[in-house]
Amino acid sequence: SGVEQLGDMIARARIIVPFTGAGISTECGIPDFRSPGGIWTRHRPIQFEEFVASQSARDESWRRRLAMEEVFAAAKPGRGHRALAALHRAGKVPAVITQNIDNLHQASGFAPDCVIELHGNTTYARCIGCGQVYQLDWVKRRFDEDGAAPDCTACDEPVKTATISFGQAMPEDEMQRATELSQSCDLFIAIGSSLVVWPAAGFPMMAKNSGARLVIINREPTEQDELADLVIHHDIGETLGPFVGN
Ligand code: OAD
Ligand code: ZN
Repeated sequence: SGVEQLGDMIARARIIVPFTGAGISTECGIPDFRSPGGIWTRHRPIQFEEFVASQSARDESWRRRLAMEEVFAAAKPGRGHRALAALHRAGKVPAVITQNIDNLHQASGFAPDCVIELHGNTTYARCIGCGQVYQLDWVKRRFDEDGAAPDCTACDEPVKTATISFGQAMPEDEMQRATELSQSCDLFIAIGSSLVVWPAAGFPMMAKNSGARLVIINREPTEQDELADLVIHHDIGETLGPFVGN
């Protein structure tokens, strides 16, 4: 079966690079974006330019984020996260490339340095002007007191979750490190992503073109299934559960 074949490929690989999307975190209670009930089936994305230009867009953005806080704060790593952390401890996975913003790879045991966050992190906030970091409880307090999204106390520019919105530049260091990892692995495993958002979705192809074998694990067909050496259309927790170990 696909799972046995995956086991063989993992056993044989020297350097495995996992690439994760929102599907790895759905069993942790965090909705994905494009499945039924996903974030983009309920809300239109707020573009970066809108966030910069409009106080009401910032208010709406923070209202949405703060409404999700109980979900993010309670989320624990799932079987997929734990399986990747076990392979990391075993020395097979140098780092994970992720589109996720939920901090769950770090929570599962990856050092911050070994999580390449292409789309940032939503568990803290940053001033878009000077980069000053803010904790979410500071934002929540200010939002509750003023009824409006806060500005930076140092430079007066808007404070935003430390994520990359549509229309915002990709983080250069992360793009560089993800490129190096994709070009140097011998097995690349895309997990829980529809593979439609670029430039992130370019890494599976980059790995394949650099000679790695490519595995895709996703419940639904993805945009790039035809590129893969092995496609597993199955639940991630079920598929990776056997690799969790102890
Ligand atoms: P998507 O919501 O586009 O895709 C998640 C995929 O995971 C779907 O194809 C689901 O079928 C699959 N899935 C969900 N739960 C699963 C499970 N338990 N087992 C197996 N498969 C499962 O999410 P991403 O591809 O991560 O970016 O989205 C990419 C980017 O789009 C995000 O990083 C975000 C979003 O807009 C920005 O906001 C910049
Ligand atoms: Zn500032």
